[in-house]
Amino acid sequence: MSFLKCLKSKGSGREYPKEAIYVCEYDFSPLEADYDYDAIRKALTREKIEKGPRSLWRYRALLPVDGEPTVGLYSGFTPLVRAKRLAAEWGVRELYIKDDSVCHPTWSFKDRVVAVALTRARELGFTTVACASTGNLANAVSAHGAKAGFERYIFIPHDLERGKVLGSLVYNPHVIAVEGNYDDVNRLCSEIVAKYHWGFVNVNLRPYYSEGSKTIGFEIAEQLGWKAPDHMVVPAASGSLITKIWKAFKEFEKLELLNGRVTTKIHCAQPEGCSPIATAILNKSEHVLPVKPKTIAKSLAIGNPADGYYAKDVIHDSGGSAAIVSDDEIREGIKTLARMEGIFTETAGGVTVASAQKLIRQGAIDPDSVIVLAITGNGLKTQEAIQTAVGEPVFIEPSLKSFEEKVRPPKTVMKA
Ligand SMILES: Cc1ncc(COP(=O)(O)O)c(C=O)c1O
Repeated sequence: MSFLKCLKSKGSGREYPKEAIYVCEYDFSPLEADYDYDAIRKALTREKIEKGPRSLWRYRALLPVDGEPTVGLYSGFTPLVRAKRLAAEWGVRELYIKDDSVCHPTWSFKDRVVAVALTRARELGFTTVACASTGNLANAVSAHGAKAGFERYIFIPHDLERGKVLGSLVYNPHVIAVEGNYDDVNRLCSEIVAKYHWGFVNVNLRPYYSEGSKTIGFEIAEQLGWKAPDHMVVPAASGSLITKIWKAFKEFEKLELLNGRVTTKIHCAQPEGCSPIATAILNKSEHVLPVKPKTIAKSLAIGNPADGYYAKDVIHDSGGSAAIVSDDEIREGIKTLARMEGIFTETAGGVTVASAQKLIRQGAIDPDSVIVLAITGNGLKTQEAIQTAVGEPVFIEPSLKSFEEKVRPPKTVMKA
């Protein structure tokens, strides 16, 4: 049973059919999925969700598909890790990592959005799917699309990390590296979709695709014992993830699935070389001004964010804040999370960790509260970023003598 009613303009509120369309003809604002919440309220309980599959599809009632899921049956439901060592180091009470660095099958939260987009793409009759990507989305469309049997066209900027390029090529889609940055790729894709009518997951299927990000928020609330956290630190590129985590908490509140109200403050994390949303927040500006990205956090290198204004409004309405961090701080963030919590995240995760630390130090995050960091991708994909920042192994000959000479381990005294 589907509760998806229609698509609705975020600006004018006008309703549109559930097709592969994404812009309101009246005011050019984006279209968003709208549901029959009264029917969902009657049908959905915590118990029903808890008995559902251990994947993002346990929240199917709140996802924009008509039938049974066909893609990404193992995606989502990632661990919410209590980060006690990092909390002690930062002097905070209750810190959690939402660990999408281990999302199935391509190790980023983009596996969620693509699971939803391709399930819908199939329902709408597409056989060819495509995307404009900063890397992780490319991997997710390549992999999910391979298993589901779609023809795939993957458009990326020409200078992505090798791990992300290889992590698409291996699934054998058409990978097109465009001489330009993500904003150029995105512009080109808007032209291609108008001519070829493929299912572009983040262009004409965007109203469906973006809803997949809500599942991070649903999972966090469920994993915290049906409670929204006090603070969330979320990395931003297009800004969509920020808006959808907020939407998830608000939907759960509306459906009376939460203990208590949503008082979550959503904080935006961006790198110094590409921070249009965070800059608008910090400058208290009405305008999200486009920038030319230059940062090691390539997954966040979107200079003209599609959902920038909406993300800014969410941060503002929730009482949240923003932090901007340098490339060195990003590297330190990656190393800190690995050293303290055993989680190897990519550059976007480094941005989140470094931003959270900054916001705690500045007093924007209360140390005596429940704090969740959205760790959205895996460090093995962005090895170049920290190649020279983690040292080298100690090389030895295969002998005890060489081991003791070169490593000099502390002498251990065996108990008798
Ligand atoms: C690892 C990672 N984190 C965060 C983001 C930001 O997502 P959004 O574009 O929804 O702001 C991206 C976007 O590609 C990403 O790859």
